[in-house]
Amino acid sequence: MTEFPKLDAALQLSLTGRVALVTGAASGIGRAIALAFAQAGAAVLINHLGRAAEAEALVVQIQSLGGRAVALEADVTRADQIARMLEPMSQPFGAVDLLVNNAGIIAEKPLLQTSEEDWDRMLAVDLKSVFLVSRAVLPAMIAQGHGVIINIASDLGYLGRENFTAYCAAKAGVMGLTRAMAREFAPAIRVNAIAPGPIHTAMVSPETMSAASLAQELDSPQRRIAEPEEIAATALFLASDLSRFYCGQVLGPNGGSVMP
Ligand SMILES: NC(=O)c1ccc[n+]([C@@H]2O[C@H](COP(=O)([O-])OP(=O)(O)OC[C@H]3O[C@@H](n4cnc5c(N)ncnc54)[C@H](O)[C@@H]3O)[C@@H](O)[C@H]2O)c1
Repeated sequence: MTEFPKLDAALQLSLTGRVALVTGAASGIGRAIALAFAQAGAAVLINHLGRAAEAEALVVQIQSLGGRAVALEADVTRADQIARMLEPMSQPFGAVDLLVNNAGIIAEKPLLQTSEEDWDRMLAVDLKSVFLVSRAVLPAMIAQGHGVIINIASDLGYLGRENFTAYCAAKAGVMGLTRAMAREFAPAIRVNAIAPGPIHTAMVSPETMSAASLAQELDSPQRRIAEPEEIAATALFLASDLSRFYCGQVLGPNGGSVMP
């Protein structure tokens, strides 16, 4: 292993020379992570589903800052679409060595009203996609002998929350999958997760949550909803060499909602 970088230089959290794929990056936390990675020097593949205008606008923003990015559409619940997204001709920057499994959905529904279709959809987008995209990206990481995978879980994966059972189950699954993958692919590939608390995105809004659930989101010592950039900061750390002793960990930028 190479020398641990000197902290003065490392504090720049440079990702120069890295190629990152961020799923669900047209909005919210994924967008903030893609922007932060690009500003740290990575070339970024911006995955989206049906959000070409937002994804292309992000590409333009990154290019205007001197960075490199391309938007790639794929439904991350579909292995065929993931394979197409990762075809060599779609990858102008070369093989992915930094993957953020961020795409996700949420739904508030009492368990007794949750249909099998509801359950399967939630588990497909929030858990199966992490397996599918990782499985597609890992062979290139293994071939080049290094790689970083960051999975976006949720504090609700620890806490549980009434009327969000499928979401909580999927996010707890993401943490288990993270730990198993971390063991299976160490030391060459580092797999870790982030379990955010509430963040200002479309996911935490009156369109997706009842007033009672939104109020519950403030039930933490900091009593606030954070910004997507606060999660991007944690992702930047996990992506960089500063975190190279982190393996199978779940970091919790959550205002204290969970203190494991
Ligand atoms: N906002 C929060 O409070 C919060 C808290 C904890 C965890 N998270 C997690 O953070 C991640 C990002 O969520 P967000 O808050 O930024 O919300 P968001 O809705 O802005 O982002 C989710 C993104 O995933 C994309 N997406 C959904 N299904 C997809 C699919 N099948 N294929 C490709 N892309 C798909 C959406 O188009 C969207 O751009 C999610 O995994 C979410 O569960 C969010």
